[in-house]
Amino acid sequence: MIPESFIQELLNRVDIVDVVDRSVPLKKAGANYSACCPFHNEKSPSFTVSPAKQFYHCFGCGAHGTAIGFLMEYQGVSFVEAVQDLAKNVGLVVPQETRDADRPAQKVVVGLQETLQQAANFYKAELKKSQRAIDYLKSRGLSGQVAAKFQIGYAPAGWQNLQGVFPHYESEALTTAGLVVENDQGRRYDRFRDRIMFPIHDQKGQVIGFGGRVINPEDTPKYYNSPETPLFQKGHELYGLFIARRAMRDAGRALVVEGYMDVVALAQYGIEYAVAALGTATTPYHIAKLMRQVDEIVFCFDGDNAGRTAAWRAAMNALPALTDGLKLTFLFLPKEHDPDSYVREFGKEQFEAEVKTAMPLSQYILQHLSENNPLQSQEDRVRFLNDAEPILKQINAPRSAMYLRKKVAELAQLSADEMHSLLKLPNVNKPPAQGRPKLTRTTVSLQKRFCLILLRRPSFATPADLALVDGRADEDMLLKQTIETCLLNPHSNSAVLLHELEAKIEAKVLNELGSELMLLDETLDFEKELAGIRMQLQDVYSHKESSSFLARISEKPLSALTEEEKALLKSVGNKPSQNRA
Ligand code: UTP
Ligand code: MN
Repeated sequence: MIPESFIQELLNRVDIVDVVDRSVPLKKAGANYSACCPFHNEKSPSFTVSPAKQFYHCFGCGAHGTAIGFLMEYQGVSFVEAVQDLAKNVGLVVPQETRDADRPAQKVVVGLQETLQQAANFYKAELKKSQRAIDYLKSRGLSGQVAAKFQIGYAPAGWQNLQGVFPHYESEALTTAGLVVENDQGRRYDRFRDRIMFPIHDQKGQVIGFGGRVINPEDTPKYYNSPETPLFQKGHELYGLFIARRAMRDAGRALVVEGYMDVVALAQYGIEYAVAALGTATTPYHIAKLMRQVDEIVFCFDGDNAGRTAAWRAAMNALPALTDGLKLTFLFLPKEHDPDSYVREFGKEQFEAEVKTAMPLSQYILQHLSENNPLQSQEDRVRFLNDAEPILKQINAPRSAMYLRKKVAELAQLSADEMHSLLKLPNVNKPPAQGRPKLTRTTVSLQKRFCLILLRRPSFATPADLALVDGRADEDMLLKQTIETCLLNPHSNSAVLLHELEAKIEAKVLNELGSELMLLDETLDFEKELAGIRMQLQDVYSHKESSSFLARISEKPLSALTEEEKALLKSVGNKPSQNRA
């Protein structure tokens, strides 16, 4: 286990521009650097790397992260491998990497497994005791058998329930396992509270982590996952793989879906060969892992836009892993459906009929590339070739590559020879970066702007700022977490702060924050901005208070008001609303 403090030191030391530039040559574009995104296919560069923020973000596909995240995504390596690689570059030694570390490390891992298994047993037993949790699962159409098959459990509400299971609640194993969180005052509490628990198993069937879903729809985030541990690396593991193994072999195919509930609901309806990537993009690792078991992989993502983006990313990530023997297809559900809702509405037969008609990868690629390209003019066709080229170059499977090349040539109206010589040419020049929209005051809420500036200047956060958080909406929680993280890490750069926030904030929210951070105007006087935002938040706050005050006293006759209430009423009346949020 690498200490968190080391990760922070590392992220403070490396320069993400160097790290990315080694694999993806960057061009200076204003304060940032840009390139065509390595994680999706595009013609003009939307991939941006900020030296000030030590963060990358693609405005096209939403890929984003720190230097560590970049290496993990780009090279498909694990968290630990990425950290080791970066550390080597800046001459740092990863702690616990000593020669004789083998045995203790082994012990830690064994201890972790036991700890996680004990927790899983506890959660399972708690499910039996909670009618509310049982009712929730029933309301989602799950039988007791399927719940048992997936070893679904329930983490009860309350802060320290695990103390009953682990008398040594202060033991480091619990935090390492991600079961217990320690706050800045050193207070320890259970990570998962009042959540349906989905244990995540490795290929041997051992519990290596959990996903927890809220029952109360007001709680956030909807799903909370174990953090990465020596046992659990999200880019490598697939939810449901161990349980689906047998059925996958029998069916000769694997179905890759987005969510825990999709996997479980499909199994409920007799489709037992589904697995899910764990809140991350499908990586080449995932694909390689599945290919060892089956030679047909069907991706079935949600019908919404996020699902479509995920599908394209999966397709692009699959390219290097392709072999001629592998059949890779994409099933696009209607917009309003995910696999769970679809199978519930239409049943197994129809779902499997859809699976049979899923679109082959090559067709998907061609369709995607010609989606916004009529291929009418020469310019259209050049653009098409530019888009197709990097994709073709990534396919190692000779026959698949040949057929795709042929199709591309046909669409671009080139002969086979012309196509052949084109692909041998060095990369064509990429068009220059286009101007990005600036982040304006009106597009981003006060809370968000507060967060963004703190991420650039964490030392400006004060404990008093916490009093400005009012409410439990996503934005309020985000602000609260950001302030707390900044108070703890006042001298860290944005990359470290975002890394810290990853464990606490829903991925979608953090995603958005990342792209807004990229757009933040660096010429602002951060201190002054912050003062302004604090004042405005105060205003909003007191406005809310005064409106509830007004509501209260409006029911009283004027004669019944106290002097104090009259004075307050007057001051509110004199002050026009300054709520600009
Ligand atoms: P979805 O938001 O599509 O939820 O997330 P879902 O699977 O349909 O869940 P239900 O049906 O509302 O219960 C898809 C997957 O993305 C990850 C989880 O792995 C989830 O299964 N996710 C989502 C998170 O990790 N955190 C979140 O807050 C939300
Ligand atoms: Mn769902």
